Amino acid sequence: MTATSIPSSSAEPSVHIFPDLEALSRAAAQHVAAHIETVLARREQYALALAGGRTPHRLYELLADVYSGHLPWSRVHFFWGDERFVPHDDEASNVRFVRETLLDAIEVPSANVHPVPTSEPTVEAAADAYRDVLHRHFDDREHTFDLALLGLGDDGHTASLFPGAPADDDQWVRPVEAPAGHDVRERVTCTLPVFNDAEEVLFLVSGAGKQDALSAVLDDRDPSLPPSHVAPRKQLTWFADEAARPRA
Ligand code: 6PG
Repeated sequence: MTATSIPSSSAEPSVHIFPDLEALSRAAAQHVAAHIETVLARREQYALALAGGRTPHRLYELLADVYSGHLPWSRVHFFWGDERFVPHDDEASNVRFVRETLLDAIEVPSANVHPVPTSEPTVEAAADAYRDVLHRHFDDREHTFDLALLGLGDDGHTASLFPGAPADDDQWVRPVEAPAGHDVRERVTCTLPVFNDAEEVLFLVSGAGKQDALSAVLDDRDPSLPPSHVAPRKQLTWFADEAARPRA
């Protein structure tokens, strides 16, 4: 597996380009597994925020196939960076997506899995309930997630924070309406302060359709795009495949 690092406009982000999504996914699985082992060598629990969308599909499969018996999954807590306001068995559900690709293949107590409660009567109530889940889990800790996985939309959104979303927010979780054209309009999303209070964030970006958005964030730091404001406590890392590499 060969990766090339490309200079970014700031010293902080670490950017790695891989030949294709398979190589990216294998590197990401190693990165996540190594981070889990490192953190759990000094702490009891690990909090991982999962991304939706198609890009992390292979990563989740690899974590299940390669690392199912090699990581202390019973000490890992799973959260979601965002969710569509649909039942958990809906094909658009991020929870269903992760259950099918990862959670059903590893031994993790149900108490460690913290999905957005989309059974609430309204998307506002689901956001309120999920906000409570995060505060219960993180208020007495010095940071939120140990690692948050994020994707990048063609339009430059991440999680369900769309272009123009505020860079700061006094709430950790918001109900949002995705712009027209997105598969499910009613969403629940973590806000930037939650991701920025994580120890690490790893973006996973694949496909030529992401070139412009990736360039707008990495090269231009476009302030209208939420990923431009992602700055976690310790490390911001971008994994992209060659197809998504910003055009020079
Ligand atoms: C979602 C994700 C969303 C996703 C991007 C990229 O719920 O869909 O949170 O932010 O990460 O839209 O999606 P792809 O990986 O499918 O390109």
